[in-house]
Amino acid sequence: MTGPGLSSDGAGSPDAGRYGERVFRPDEGGEGDRIDLGALAYDETTMARLRLLGAGPGWTCLEVGAGTGTVARKLLDEAGVAEVLAVDRDVRFLAAHPVPGLTVRQADITSDDFAPGLFQLVHARFVLMHLPSPQRMVARLGGLLAPGGVLVISDAVDLTTGSAPVTPYTRAMRAMWQGLRDTIGTDVSRVPRHPELLRAAGLESVAAEIHVPPLEPGSAISAFWTETWERAREAMVGTGLVDDAQIDEAVAYLDSPRCTGLSPGMLTAWGRKGGP
Ligand SMILES: C[S@@+](CC[C@H](N)C(=O)[O-])C[C@H]1O[C@@H](n2cnc3c(N)ncnc32)[C@H](O)[C@@H]1O
Repeated sequence: MTGPGLSSDGAGSPDAGRYGERVFRPDEGGEGDRIDLGALAYDETTMARLRLLGAGPGWTCLEVGAGTGTVARKLLDEAGVAEVLAVDRDVRFLAAHPVPGLTVRQADITSDDFAPGLFQLVHARFVLMHLPSPQRMVARLGGLLAPGGVLVISDAVDLTTGSAPVTPYTRAMRAMWQGLRDTIGTDVSRVPRHPELLRAAGLESVAAEIHVPPLEPGSAISAFWTETWERAREAMVGTGLVDDAQIDEAVAYLDSPRCTGLSPGMLTAWGRKGGP
């Protein structure tokens, strides 16, 4: 172990289940709203990067682990791309908001028969961190690029809570990462290596950036963590690192003007497939 919930070998916990089974079940009331809070915090940054990378009229795009589909719909409505195929293991949120140009497909992207075609943009946000073998996944997603196409991978990075002094906030965050590792296999310690994985997959012009939203009381990101802790509460308490009262204390801290914690952020890495 290299820190709370973190590993050096990139392997998930042997007892871990999968995303959406014990934690973040899509059939649990409010799960779509929780994903939308994350989208509110990050969509602007994501869309700015996708547009800088060229997403626009004429592009065909694959949105991997599309969740509620905010990025898929913004690619169509705001960037004006031609088509988006939005894929998820559970498509109930995607199917609820159809728009012209959006095709929804239920699929497990770790399955060997996942072969949806070739795209100019393949985008996956907050998905690979929950899956085993990121190297294999990056290679697989890179293999779905048309010549000149771009693969964009965003996942969480926590720049502070592993090393910062113990506060109600850092204690809850550490327990959350450990709880998600135990129940899903989530491992954010691997995320800073994503640019290396893109290069190893043969992609060119590889680069990365990090966005850390401010934890202001009442902000979308603070509400996202509150909701996330609520849904992961059992897993967090199960780690023995935190109890219910301490989670409540951390939630109250997030909502107070005293809050000076630094949120985990989003590392976005991208690479391009050589042209024809
Ligand atoms: C944290 S949510 C992120 C949703 C969206 N990408 C966003 O950033 O708003 C993770 C999504 O990945 C999906 N997912 C997880 N494992 C998957 C798999 N093996 N195949 C397809 N989708 C998967 C989940 O169902 C969920 O919708």
